[in-house]
Amino acid sequence: MSPALLPALLGLTLLLSRTQALTCQSGSAVTVRNATELPLQWTVGEKICDEGWGCQDTVLLLGNGPQVLLVLTKGCTQKENQEAHVTDHRAGPGLSIVSYTSVCRHKDLCNDLSSTLPLWSLPSPAAPGSVRCPVCLSTEGCESATEVTCPIGHSYCYNGVLKFRGGGINSKLRVQGCMSQATCNLLNETREIGSLSVSENCGANGMEVLTCQSGALGRVMNVTELPLEWTAGQEDCREGWGCQDTLMLLENGPQVLLVLTKGCTQEKDQEARVTEHRAGPGLSIVSYTRVCRHEDLCNDLPNTVPLWTLQPPAALGSVQCPVCLSTEGCESATEVTCPVGHSHCYNGIFTLRGGGVSGKLRVQGCMSQEACNLLNETRKIGSLSVSESCDTDASQTCEKGTMLRFQRNLAKEPLEWNMFGTVKCDLAEVCQETLLLIDVGSTSLIVGSKGCIKTETQNSQAVSIHSGPPGILIASYTHFCSSNRCNNARSTSVLLNSLRDLAAPVPGDLQCPTCVQLSRSCTGSGTVTCPKGTTGCYKGYIGLEGGGLTSPLSIQGCMAQPSNYLLNHTNMIGPFHTVEFPEDVNKDRQSGGAPKDLQSGAAPAPYLARVVGLGLSLALWCGMTTLLTLFPCDS
Ligand SMILES: *[C@@H]1O[C@H](CO)[C@@H](O)[C@H](O)[C@H]1NC(C)=O
Ligand SMILES: *[C@@H]1O[C@H](CO)[C@@H](O)[C@H](O)[C@H]1NC(C)=O
Ligand SMILES: *[C@@H]1O[C@H](CO)[C@@H](O)[C@H](O)[C@H]1NC(C)=O
Ligand SMILES: *[C@@H]1O[C@H](CO)[C@@H](O)[C@H](O)[C@H]1NC(C)=O
Ligand SMILES: *[C@@H]1O[C@H](CO)[C@@H](O)[C@H](O)[C@H]1NC(C)=O
Repeated sequence: MSPALLPALLGLTLLLSRTQALTCQSGSAVTVRNATELPLQWTVGEKICDEGWGCQDTVLLLGNGPQVLLVLTKGCTQKENQEAHVTDHRAGPGLSIVSYTSVCRHKDLCNDLSSTLPLWSLPSPAAPGSVRCPVCLSTEGCESATEVTCPIGHSYCYNGVLKFRGGGINSKLRVQGCMSQATCNLLNETREIGSLSVSENCGANGMEVLTCQSGALGRVMNVTELPLEWTAGQEDCREGWGCQDTLMLLENGPQVLLVLTKGCTQEKDQEARVTEHRAGPGLSIVSYTRVCRHEDLCNDLPNTVPLWTLQPPAALGSVQCPVCLSTEGCESATEVTCPVGHSHCYNGIFTLRGGGVSGKLRVQGCMSQEACNLLNETRKIGSLSVSESCDTDASQTCEKGTMLRFQRNLAKEPLEWNMFGTVKCDLAEVCQETLLLIDVGSTSLIVGSKGCIKTETQNSQAVSIHSGPPGILIASYTHFCSSNRCNNARSTSVLLNSLRDLAAPVPGDLQCPTCVQLSRSCTGSGTVTCPKGTTGCYKGYIGLEGGGLTSPLSIQGCMAQPSNYLLNHTNMIGPFHTVEFPEDVNKDRQSGGAPKDLQSGAAPAPYLARVVGLGLSLALWCGMTTLLTLFPCDS
């Protein structure tokens, strides 16, 4: 076989082996038509999807008297299958919105809607009222809008801007017409239609409300990974706000810290600017900042290229310094020979906050001066506030310990909660103390954990009731704080005080076995008469990992929830990763006697010895915002 053929053949095999990959109809359109032209038909292209993806159809029709807006998008989607569905978001006469959405996987090109017929019916003529409104559907202005007499009951003139985004569409449209209410709510609270996200704005400057690229990322990388590209998410700004780009690179020999934030800002416009805050070789800091308003998505910095050039190798001097850039410790820092003129070893902690990113980082490397001034007096870089400290013992000390008690009435009677020592945390960590209480009636369990934790909510305190009452009570107390030994609660009353107001149970008719044990299944259990309001018996176990305890926890008792789950898929409670495996819930509402022991036949899923972690070890600050679509954080 000639080697030239090989790549082509390999490509083919690749295609053939992707048996799951669907071909979908693909295309998009936004068009305003005369209502008399309906029904409309279309033909579209095709696209091969990623494995596992489905085909989607999204069609929206906005009726406005003599005019109709059609928004159409077809293509591949990760969403779950969804039967074809027609939704009236806003009923006419006057302005109306109707949509058709479906997601399918049963065959290639299954997203085969080819006309507006399923959505469109000729509106019956409405009795005219007395109010007249301008009617307009336009991507430009509405200065020359014609006036129409509105139907009875639709006597408010709507004047707003609709935005459609997603599925290859990014479009803004001024809309004027007759509405049944005075509010700016043509969309009737709809935010998502199939693969489109929709929004509206009725301010005078609706057209000037910007959409910006949005996202945040902070990551320590190998210099060889540069230059780097990204794709950003999007965000609608408030009126008058602009779009910002902030990119900062802190280089330190073989490593570089990259911090990127994109989003809406109140700051005034600023041309793209590259600033060298600290010149290399050795430690260096350079940034790119920009604020713009001239068009949607103008904060379009796509990569590190404007900032980053490979430095020529510098002449080396004689001093050696440890080099490190880490949210953890720098114990195993490697030593490098510093460039001539950079003969001071810097050892500090760099802190940054803003634009959806926050974090602390230990920095060691070669500097040209003795002072603790890596930032060269810089305090602000675009949307970021930055600071440094060379008091290197900045990590926190927290109380540490795990407590576990089985006893009746732990939801009522407080216990002492002692620590067993202290622990020094990583820079990225704060102190935590967490209580998890499970009361099944006949007995109860409380688990307490104190220590360090990596969390996005640095200072917070919360009591959550995950399940019951009535029935099995599962409640937790979590406290995250960021000063030395601040996790110093001494009694479980911090949780119990918040449970005092729970209504006392009134006995009902149902009876259930009860148990809570550190094992996969209960060995021996009592039986209780369930309180009123419970509807079934729960049996299952929860895999618990973290906070000093790794064990399955079997639970039986009375349950009121309509679902089979006690924890409602909660998978983090303080430091505890939880995975719930309900075995069976007897939904028998009939009174009296012991419950039937239904066996579903489905064996419980195996206990996950290693619950999937948070992915925090690689990413410095991934997931700080809901806007984080910039990078897969787990790569
Ligand atoms: C729509 O089409 C009808 C018939 O073709 C025509 O009479 C009418 O003027 C058109 N309306 C608009 C707004 O273009
Ligand atoms: C608004 O939406 C709700 C449900 O989504 C629907 O019941 C109601 O009829 C809609 N209102 C109008 C005026 O179309
Ligand atoms: C950076 O990447 C290069 C090439 O991929 C590798 O040789 C080097 O060991 C890496 N350095 C660090 C600090 O990971
Ligand atoms: C420190 O900043 C000033 C101005 O901001 C700049 O002129 C100077 O070169 C910087 N110093 C270093 C060592 O980068
Ligand atoms: C379960 O969680 C979902 C999503 O987090 C929430 O919408 C729902 O209300 C919760 N159900 C109960 C019974 O708490």
